[in-house]
Amino acid sequence: MTVPEIINEINLIESEQKRRRRECKIDEYNAGEKKHLKQIAFHQCDKKNRWVFGGNRSGKTECGAVETVWLARGIHPYKENKPRDGWVVSLSQQVQRDVAQNKILSYLKKDWIEDIVMISGKKGSAESGVIDTIYIKNVFGSVSKIGFKSCDQGREKFQGTSLDFVWFDEEPPEDIYIECKMRVLDKCGEVFGTMTPLKGLTWVYRTIYLNESMDPDVWYEQMEWADNPYLSKDEIEKFSKFLSQEELLSRKYGGFASGMGLVYSEFDERVNVIEPFEVPIDWYDKISIDPGLHNPLSCHWYACDYDGNVFVIAEHYDKQKTVEYHAERIRDISNRLKWPVKNGRLEAIIDSAANQKTLASEKSVTELFYDYGIIANPYVNKDLFAGINRVKSYFKNALGERKLFIFKNCVNMIREIKGYFWGNNDAPVKKDDHAMDELRYYIMSRPENKEKKTGEKSIISRNKEKLIRQHRYSDLRYKIN
Ligand SMILES: Nc1ncnc2c1ncn2[C@@H]1O[C@H](COP(=O)(O)OP(=O)(O)OP(=O)(O)O)[C@@H](O)[C@H]1O
Ligand SMILES: [Mg+2]
Repeated sequence: MTVPEIINEINLIESEQKRRRRECKIDEYNAGEKKHLKQIAFHQCDKKNRWVFGGNRSGKTECGAVETVWLARGIHPYKENKPRDGWVVSLSQQVQRDVAQNKILSYLKKDWIEDIVMISGKKGSAESGVIDTIYIKNVFGSVSKIGFKSCDQGREKFQGTSLDFVWFDEEPPEDIYIECKMRVLDKCGEVFGTMTPLKGLTWVYRTIYLNESMDPDVWYEQMEWADNPYLSKDEIEKFSKFLSQEELLSRKYGGFASGMGLVYSEFDERVNVIEPFEVPIDWYDKISIDPGLHNPLSCHWYACDYDGNVFVIAEHYDKQKTVEYHAERIRDISNRLKWPVKNGRLEAIIDSAANQKTLASEKSVTELFYDYGIIANPYVNKDLFAGINRVKSYFKNALGERKLFIFKNCVNMIREIKGYFWGNNDAPVKKDDHAMDELRYYIMSRPENKEKKTGEKSIISRNKEKLIRQHRYSDLRYKIN
């Protein structure tokens, strides 16, 4: 053989190897020793509104593309399979071609494709054009459709069809999200999204991350570089070099970009929220209650270890219920925890407003609680700013230490923290702050932590900071509303 013949032969072998690798890419997805556990968790989740908030290169699009192909082909390893039609929504046609469409084609075996309809370009080389629909032979002997849509076409282009699923690759505008949810309503279908939260505190923050309407179908996870075992060290280094601290939060960790305006900006869900564990009874400290009748009543059980770390270990949070009902639930949870009682009664701290008489009764809330077996002490420290500062230092102090840990099942407290914003007059917005109040009362009841002083600020610098905050927060509120 001559040298050119050998080179030719090698080229042929390499392109055949490439073709074969491509043909079985879907079979190899997370099938080897290296596994992307967050991708697997996403595929296993059976909620109908699932989101991955991931850093760049964390592996979001890859798992959205595989989910789409599994659903359309009818080979989902964790779901009941049936013929399913869906859409893939990208931000623009160009992004569709370069990202989602490209990934889906890479996971589709050639003989699964029945036909491709193009918007532009030739179907013979579909990857270089813009696809309208891929018709896929599913395992049931029929054909499933994957339609491609881009947000720059406007909401009208998203009307009409009934679908089984929609995948959003990156954050769509809210009107398109709502339109797509309508498309899956008929068939009890699902929507899922994979995105880097670069746009700040948009509708996704409120609807999915905070889950303000407490929709049980909503689920999300955060994906960071460290979760992607396929990402090379080189790539990580290359990226890190060019990113600012602010950018790192979203581009590396998948966190929402604008912490600006959040009261507890020190709170980091990955550190301050922990898996529940069995807490020694010696650590049990106090129950704290913020009463509400129409509004929610928020009650948490606080424990403290010998190093001064505080753990929020249980939650009762309910609205439009009587004091009798709340007291019964609080006693139930306390019994389960084997929380200590004094002379047959539980002890708690409670907002001093609970001393006022209720409209429905001759008695005050504290008196009613007493009747139902709970001695609620209303002498709490309600100093808002001192309280907020103290809670902030528990979330993270100047030395970077964290001393406040919330069990994952205290979902309402976690939601309130993530939605607690500064409002007018340098005070937090009075909305969904029930757990925030009783958390503060509890933390203020603790002996003061002696932190190293970093030097007293002058009145002028304090005023300046106040003005900057007011300016920022009114701007932020405008964006949120
Ligand atoms: N399960 C997997 N198997 C093999 N490689 C993977 C897997 N998941 C991710 N990767 C690798 O990680 C890279 C980044 O994944 P992906 O494109 O899904 O990231 P992304 O979070 O969508 O990034 P971007 O922010 O750039 O959109 C992929 O190009 C691929 O090389
Ligand atoms: Mg991507």
